[in-house]
Amino acid sequence: HAAPAVVPVGRITRVVAHRGASHDRPEHTLAAYRQAIEDGADALECDVRLTADGRLVCVHDRRVDRTSDGRGAVSAMTLDELDRLDFGSWKGGGAGPSRVLAFDELLALVSSAPRPVSLAVETKHPTRWAGRVERELVRQLRLFGLDRPTPGMPDRVRLMSFSRTALHRLAVLAPELPRVLLTERTVPGWGSRLPSGVLIAGPGIDLVRARPGLVLRLRAAGYRVHVWTVDEPDDVELCLRLGVEAVITNRPRQVLEQIGDR
Ligand code: G3P
Ligand code: CA
Repeated sequence: HAAPAVVPVGRITRVVAHRGASHDRPEHTLAAYRQAIEDGADALECDVRLTADGRLVCVHDRRVDRTSDGRGAVSAMTLDELDRLDFGSWKGGGAGPSRVLAFDELLALVSSAPRPVSLAVETKHPTRWAGRVERELVRQLRLFGLDRPTPGMPDRVRLMSFSRTALHRLAVLAPELPRVLLTERTVPGWGSRLPSGVLIAGPGIDLVRARPGLVLRLRAAGYRVHVWTVDEPDDVELCLRLGVEAVITNRPRQVLEQIGDR
């Protein structure tokens, strides 16, 4: 593919810590999110899943096997059961034991951070619970007052999903919160129109590398573009050239160092 034309407004204004500073710390743990805040990340990304007793926890995979010393599906375990597992030591490299992070603990961290940080929440398994994940997510955000605009931070919370069904539910529950449609590959309609009310496109970096023109078309159509997961310096450069607004990265400190005040 030819190099994409340089476009103006090449300014990444948001560096989003993917599962926290997850290159350095065990993903989705308090340690990873505290590190991300310390590193200067503008926003924290997390995935949410529902436990068997209806609590939201920050876990990416359907099962706990990869990131803990337990086995089984998150949705089959209660929060108490998850709480007994170690979600830290698998990472090695000196990372000690870590507890599962309940979503309300992450909201407490965001609310009490020493400087304003925003939150990009992704809902997983949209079909399994028929809307319970989305309802509980919005309920928690409202409890913490994070559904309201914060002065100087027009989109303190962004709601993300690969699922149009989930985004539609969220639009009904909390129309005021900006929504991000994630995708790994092109799907019909991309580049011209996203589902009604979706303001932000969230393509994966492989797609952006393969089809940089897609980002330009999305921007020309008025959409903001948030790309994941951008860890390599060349990919950060590409995102800068394309006028991407946010990069979602496991390495927020390195990306911030690279972009400086560009
Ligand atoms: O931020 C979006 C990105 O996290 C989507 O992919 O698999 O890491 O949740 P995944
Ligand atoms: Ca995610």
